[in-house]
Amino acid sequence: MKIVSIVGARPEFIQAAPVSFALRRTHREVLVHTGQHYDDSMSRVFFEDLELPAPDYHLGVGSRSHARQTGEMMIRLEEVLRKERPDMAIVRGDTNSTLAGALAAAKLQIPLVHIEAGERSFNKFMPEEINRLVADRLADLHFCITRLAVRHLAREGITEGVFFVGDVMLDAVRIYLPRAMERAPALLERLGVESGRYLLATVHRAGNTDDPRRLAGILAGFNSIPEPIVFPVHPRTRQAIARYGLQTAPHIRAVEPVGYLDMLALEAHARMILTDSGGVQREAYFLGVPCLTLREETELMETVEIGWNRLVGTDPRRILEGRHFFRPAGPRPPLFGDGHAAERIAAILEQAPPRFGQHYRRPGSFVALIRATAEQISLP
Ligand code: UD1
Ligand code: UDP
Repeated sequence: MKIVSIVGARPEFIQAAPVSFALRRTHREVLVHTGQHYDDSMSRVFFEDLELPAPDYHLGVGSRSHARQTGEMMIRLEEVLRKERPDMAIVRGDTNSTLAGALAAAKLQIPLVHIEAGERSFNKFMPEEINRLVADRLADLHFCITRLAVRHLAREGITEGVFFVGDVMLDAVRIYLPRAMERAPALLERLGVESGRYLLATVHRAGNTDDPRRLAGILAGFNSIPEPIVFPVHPRTRQAIARYGLQTAPHIRAVEPVGYLDMLALEAHARMILTDSGGVQREAYFLGVPCLTLREETELMETVEIGWNRLVGTDPRRILEGRHFFRPAGPRPPLFGDGHAAERIAAILEQAPPRFGQHYRRPGSFVALIRATAEQISLP
């Protein structure tokens, strides 16, 4: 089969790697990079660290408003998809690259596969929630990272072509952690921190960076913590910090975004992680590092309920309190599968390749449905 695989933003490169290796054993993968992330530290370093093949197409779309970015990606993806005529297109997660890929493929009637389907924050103010809703509605096959995601889809009436396979980000941790750990001693020394005696922080959500009060709250929380904090700063956040004239205290090592292997090493050795990232919350769980989530809600409610993740929002007092008192110790059941999601995805695609629109059809007893509806629904 010929499979067009669409990536564009940092977490998508990581999610793509294990699947790409599994698919390339038997199929031809055409890798398309939309160019949503383009700095070396946001893109090139991941292709190197992950040993991902160079993209077959680089669409170079870059940063723009939501509509311009998504629209330009769709225009350029349409050309690629028309030329390649693949058997299916794969999108993952919830970025604008996901949205553009889903729309471009569906309009060309190309079977669509969504990896990391069914994630929901139930916060429609997040651009990611909108992207997920659309991608899930259009996908012909849905691969879910947790059983909760399967349930979310079922609640929305999506019950066919849905598979709980586990999280390909756990596959990536299984594959790359040994390599990452080799780098750890030199990296920690360079940053001037000791294993188990620093916190690791990331912040990049639009809801946190576009609102000066929320970003100021997070940084006030970090500044008040009497412990070193390694803080690889996303370009969006760096710009926001400068725009609002905010400061970080000297115990905060605010560095450029780091590559994947360095990030895994930093996560594994951190005493605690503070983040608003979806991927980083999951990795904290995989690695057994306590996580404070700088949001009011999360897609990963199971990790909160099990006790390894705490929602602290952006209030400095809650952040400081979490840093002092949050000490999870209970078991970590395998919510995210067994680290072999990519092989499962490849096997399912092989055994039952998706067909466009295969699960989208009238309900069986359509006449009964019309009668029942006529009786129940009246004019206001
Ligand atoms: C995007 C995704 C988000 C994901 C995140 C992963 C959307 C709507 N959001 O958010 O779901 O969690 O990626 O990191 O798709 N910039 C640079 N260099 C780069 C990339 C971005 O300077 O290489 C700056 C630009 O000023 C840009 C801003 O960061 O406007 C935001 O980038 P964008 O890709 O729009 O959104 P992210 O916040 O990265
Ligand atoms: N990551 C990284 N370097 C960084 C920050 C994050 O390699 O400086 C990795 C992180 O380990 C995880 C992924 O990027 O695998 C998460 O991406 P991000 O936080 O940008 O997006 P999200 O997961 O929230 O969509």
